[in-house]
Order: sequence, then C-alpha cells, then structure tokens
Amino acid sequence: MNIILLGPPGAGKGTQARRLVDERNMVQLSTGDMLRAAKDSGTEMGKLVAEVMAKGLLVTDEIVIGLIEEQLETVEATGFIFDGFPRTLAQADALNALLGRKGQSLDAVIEMKVNDDALVSRVTGRSTCGACGEVYHDETKPQPADGKCSNCGASEFKRRADDNEDAFRTRLLAYYRDTSPLIGYYYAKGQHSAIDGMAAMDAVAGEIKEVLDKA
Ligand code: AP5
Repeated sequence: MNIILLGPPGAGKGTQARRLVDERNMVQLSTGDMLRAAKDSGTEMGKLVAEVMAKGLLVTDEIVIGLIEEQLETVEATGFIFDGFPRTLAQADALNALLGRKGQSLDAVIEMKVNDDALVSRVTGRSTCGACGEVYHDETKPQPADGKCSNCGASEFKRRADDNEDAFRTRLLAYYRDTSPLIGYYYAKGQHSAIDGMAAMDAVAGEIKEVLDKA
C-alpha cells in the first residue's frame, strides 16, 4: 500500500508517518528528512539546499524528484508513506510515473486539515530527538522530565532552523501557492480523503486507519 500524507507545515504528517511505520511496517519517505540529512552531511547538494530550506522556500523539483527516485529504486517495502512529497504538480506527475515504472500505484492521499493559527504554535514549539527523530512539542508532548527520549533513551534534542515564525509564514505561503492545488488534483483522480488534523494525535491516527482500511 502506498500513501501520501498531505498537509501544511506542522499538520502532523511526520508524527503520523512514524506511527504507521511502527504499526504497519511501512517505509516513511520524507523529503524534508532527506534534505536535512544532505545538509548535515555537507555535500554540495546539502550546501545548496540549506539556505533555501532555512528561508522556508521550496527546493527545486529536480532535486527532490531525484531523491525519491533513488529511494524507490533501492528500497524494498510493502508500502511507502510519502511525507512532504509531492509538493507541486510536477512532483505529483513524476511520482505517478515512478510508481508506474515499478508496476505500483497510489492507494490513498490523506489531507490533514489544521487551522492556520494552530500551525504556527505547533511549529515553533516543536523539538525532535537527535538520535531517533521522535517528535515532541513544548505543550502537547513535552520532552520527558528525565531528559531522555521516551522512544530511544537518547538525551540530545534538536530544533529546526526553519521552525521560526518568519520561515513558517513563507512555508505556509508555499503550501497554499504550490501544494494545495494537489488537493483538487487527487480529488479528481478519486484518491483524496480529508481528515481532521486538529484532533488529538490518537484520534488522528484512528481517522487515518479508517481511510486505510477502506483503501
Ligand atoms: P518538511 O520537513 O517536509 O516540513 P513541513 O512539510 O513544513 O512539515 P513539518 O515537518 O514542519 O510538519 P509535519 O506535518 O511533519 O508536523 P509534525 O508531525 O512534525 O520540509 C521542510 C523544508 O524542506 C521545506 O520548507 C522545503 O524547503 C524542503 N522540502 C521538503 N520537501 C520538499 C519537496 N517535496 N519539494 C520542495 N522542497 C521540499 O508535527 C508538528 C508539531 O505538532 C510537533 O511538535 C508535534 O508534536 C505536534 N503535533 C502533531 N500532531 C498533533 C496533534 N494532533 N495535536 C497537537 N499537536 C500535534
């Protein structure tokens, strides 16, 4: 089963993707994580994208499609969760072609709807475990009091360079301008479902399960 989690910055895509990996043995393909890894490794491509990401702008289609293509060619999985990809119509067309080449297709595109006002506090309050990537939030899911990640026990936590209000506004604009047309695109293809991303994390997971059970 191949699915897309679609939604604005801070909608909860990464949080829910990690649960699906644990519960359904699927593979999460997050272009944001791939780009951050490239940035941290100091490759030429990493240097190129670091500034673009810090400002909240979109990285070029060519780069992100290349990253996804490489993963689809090398990783075997019973199902992929596309998290943060596609983000443009060109990326969506490329994904169809890449899956088609593997004899596969998309089973569901789940739009996570969250109020704009809630997004900014979700993003500015976010931190992640530096070792396993577990996602925390200063108010809704605080880091454990003993300073150790509840998932892996590591004690180093990170905040993202683009998780500030200025970069967030740019990311939100990019979402409405470049990514939100995908809602209509997948609706017309009969693949779109919308869920309430404002609900508590367990309730959101329940709604995703309902969509996947019907797909
Ligand atoms: P990316 O890393 O994909 O970031 P994003 O799409 O902006 O999404 P986020 O990771 O910010 O949010 P999320 O929806 O995963 O939310 P999370 O679960 O963490 O992209 C970063 C940058 O990389 C882009 O700006 C761009 O430059 C570049 N890029 C990436 N992909 C690209 C592409 N395809 N094309 C071009 N450029 C690309 O949750 C957020 C917070 O909310 C957490 O603290 C969490 O604990 C909390 N939370 C989650 N769910 C709930 C809930 N139900 N209730 C309350 N709190 C919740």
